[in-house]
Amino acid sequence: VRNILVIGIGAGNPEHLTIQAVKALQRVDVFFITDKGRDKEDLQRLRAQICSQYIEHPRYRTIEVTDPERDRSSPDYEEAVQAWHQQRLALYESLIREQLAANECGAFLVWGDPGLYDSTLRIIGQLASRNGVEFEYEVIPGITSVQALTARHRITLNQIGEPVHITTGRRLARNPSLAAADTVVLLDGECAFRRVSDEHVEIFWGAYLGTPAEIVMSGPLTELAPTIERVRAEARRQHGWIMDTYLLRRPRG
Ligand SMILES: C[S@@+](CC[C@H](N)C(=O)[O-])C[C@H]1O[C@@H](n2cnc3c(N)ncnc32)[C@H](O)[C@@H]1O
Repeated sequence: VRNILVIGIGAGNPEHLTIQAVKALQRVDVFFITDKGRDKEDLQRLRAQICSQYIEHPRYRTIEVTDPERDRSSPDYEEAVQAWHQQRLALYESLIREQLAANECGAFLVWGDPGLYDSTLRIIGQLASRNGVEFEYEVIPGITSVQALTARHRITLNQIGEPVHITTGRRLARNPSLAAADTVVLLDGECAFRRVSDEHVEIFWGAYLGTPAEIVMSGPLTELAPTIERVRAEARRQHGWIMDTYLLRRPRG
C-alpha cells in the first residue's frame, strides 16, 4: 500500500528538524513540493536544502506542484477557503494516484508543525476517508514558529497557570481586546497589533525566525508598534515576502 508522510520541518532553521523527521526523510521516494508562487522562493530553497543536507541516498524524486490560489477577491472568506480546499483535495488525490507507485512512500514537507494553521492534514485526512486512492499516512511533528519565537525571546509561552490563545491577524483586528489575555498571532499581513490600545500590553515579535534574515523586537506594544510596522514594511520590500509571528502579553501581578 502507498505510504504518505506529513513531515514538520520547523519554521526556518534546518537544525530544528527532529531526529524522527531526519529518519523519516530517508524513507521517502517522492517529495511533493507545493509551490505557492514566486515570493515564496526562499521557502522552496530551504526545503530543497533540507532534502540535500539530510537525505543520505540520491534515489528520491521531487514533484513540484503549484498550489491553487485562494480567491482573495471573494467577499465571502469562508466560502473562498472551502472552494480552495476542494481544489487542493482534487490536486493531492491526483498526485498520489499518478505519481506514487503502489508500494512507494511519498512526503509532504510542512512548514513548522503540520498541526498548526496548516491544511495539509485536513486534506490528507479527507482523502484517506473517501474511496478514491488508497494509502496510509503518518505525521511527524515539527518545531512551530511559536516555539521558535518564544525560544528566541527566552520567554515562556504562558504565564504561571494561565491560558494562551492562538489566533490570526484577521481575528485580532476584529477583536483587539484579545490582547488582554496572552495571545499569539500568526498570519497577520495587516499589522493588526496597531488596533490594540491597552498600554499595559507587551509585544514579542519575530520575523523570518530561524533564518539568516531573522528580526526580533520586544517591548511595550503602543510604543513599539510604529517601529515594527516600519521595519516589517522595509523587510518585506527587501525580501519580497515576510512571515512574522508575535505574542501579546499583559503581565500579571
Ligand atoms: C500557514 S501558517 C503555518 C504555521 C506553521 N505550521 C507553524 O507551525 O509555525 C504561516 C504563519 O506562520 C508564521 N510563521 C511561520 N514561519 C515563521 C517564521 N520563520 N518566522 C515568523 N513567523 C513564521 C507566520 O505568522 C506565518 O504567517
